Amino acid sequence: MNNLLISNKELITTITINRPKQLNALNISTIEELGKVFNNLQNDKNTRVIVLIGAGEKSFVAGADIKEFSNYDNKQGADLSRNGHLNLFNLIEDFTKPVIAAINGYALGGGLELALSAHIRVASKNAKLGLPEVSLGVIPGYGGTQRLTNLVGKGRAMEYILTAKMIGVEDAKHSGLINEYCELEELLPTCENIARKIIKNSPRAISKAIKCINASLKNESGFETEIEEFGKCFQTDDFIEGTTAFLEKRKPKYN
Ligand code: CAA
Repeated sequence: MNNLLISNKELITTITINRPKQLNALNISTIEELGKVFNNLQNDKNTRVIVLIGAGEKSFVAGADIKEFSNYDNKQGADLSRNGHLNLFNLIEDFTKPVIAAINGYALGGGLELALSAHIRVASKNAKLGLPEVSLGVIPGYGGTQRLTNLVGKGRAMEYILTAKMIGVEDAKHSGLINEYCELEELLPTCENIARKIIKNSPRAISKAIKCINASLKNESGFETEIEEFGKCFQTDDFIEGTTAFLEKRKPKYN
């Protein structure tokens, strides 16, 4: 991996996007590497939660790499967007293990879209978020028009995207764009704390819950998905362990 650093402890895998000189801008090879890592983590028994962060103290990800696409024609633009959706952004959104974006600075354009694909977003106080694409004569192309609207509602999404403005953490928390914010040095510990709470729960139930929550946003019958996935929980090892532990007045152990 040329553009990523990967570490693992206590069932939490941290992926660091490591192009600090370019403020961790997402070029195509970084997107490909991220896609590969996520595919590998799918069956990794040592990974129950993934934390995504940018290298350095200035930026999470400052967007898609503008240098790379500045000469693109219409078809190349559409391909860039489609490949990004299919190979990474949808993969993260539908990932069966929770993904937490640790937004440690600028999360702009494709960088905010990456964070929007994650299941939970925590920012450091110095973070600046935004979808500035219209200032470049383009629109968000990695799912931002859809995921931002789903998260903060149409009115806010219109405001954020049409003004291209930088959004501070207080505004972002208020609008629901981020779950919480903290001091920069507390960012990873805060994410790990959330991860530890998740890890106490049934991984199979968690993957089903992610599927159902996402179904509500995909023109699918989310209620039907919930009924099906609820039913599938019964008689699984996790369900037997969870209910037995409750009845025996002990904490469940999931793996
Ligand atoms: N693409 C490529 N390079 C980038 C970049 C990006 N998105 N963002 C920053 N960089 C590079 C800069 O070109 C600069 O490189 P050089 O030193 O070689 O010139 C380096 O990172 C440091 O950046 P700055 O000197 O600009 O740092 P700054 O502190 O003055 O400004 C910033 C920081 C406000 C984040 C500014 O870099 C910026 O505005 N970046 C672009 C943000 C942006 O518009 N992102 C959206 C991209 S479009 C997109 O993402 C499309 C999509 O949805 C698919």
